Amino acid sequence: MSTLERAEAAERALSDELDRVVVKSVIYTSGERDPRVPVQRPPDQGKLYMMGHDPRLPRMPERPTLFDFFKYRFGPANHLMQSARLALKNGAGENVVMACLVHDIAIAGFIRGDHGYWGAQLVEPYVDEEVSWAIRYHQALRFFPDPSVGYDYPAMYVKLFGADYQPDEYIQRDYRYARDHKWYMTSRMICVNDLYAFDPSVQVQLEEFTDIVGRNFRQPKEGLGFDASPSAHMWRTIMWPTKYL
Ligand SMILES: [Fe+2]
Ligand SMILES: [Fe+2]
Repeated sequence: MSTLERAEAAERALSDELDRVVVKSVIYTSGERDPRVPVQRPPDQGKLYMMGHDPRLPRMPERPTLFDFFKYRFGPANHLMQSARLALKNGAGENVVMACLVHDIAIAGFIRGDHGYWGAQLVEPYVDEEVSWAIRYHQALRFFPDPSVGYDYPAMYVKLFGADYQPDEYIQRDYRYARDHKWYMTSRMICVNDLYAFDPSVQVQLEEFTDIVGRNFRQPKEGLGFDASPSAHMWRTIMWPTKYL
């Protein structure tokens, strides 16, 4: 194929894709609509259904890296980068900096509720067990103060959830479990370096963490999503969130 033919083929593929029917996953709309009611299908008028890249989204490289997901699929990652930088400044070890950099990726690009658990699962095949453990349990530790490291119950949570909010029983259970665990402090350090207020005067670049990520995240050579790890499908769903099946 000549360059022109290739360009034309790519253009044709794009316009074909634009014609695809998109049906949203139930979780997108649950609450806005009753999940017991059958999903309303747009009239397909003989069109094909979305089975891959959604042309409304930036296209990801063939073998995406963690940073590619930061760039193309995660919302503004300032919170993550600022918290990783604070950890660095506070003299934390690389495992804590790594954990801080990805501790909220579920919020940034996947699913909010139970984000610590989702985030831990996403990175589990690629980081030290201690790092994913810390990410999982920061979910629970956030709600409980630890005066020994100067961590208070976040004032922001009073504003967000009300003064009488009580964490769910499973969060309390996981807190009690984590409190007595040998990696407790690693997870607690995520909370300590977790900044609530985004400071617009602090500009952090992802590239500041290239070396730490290189040493602490086992980037699969096939690309995230294509390496058959236990969380590869989750990365693919972030990449192709509207795939029909
Ligand atoms: Fe978090
Ligand atoms: Fe956070």
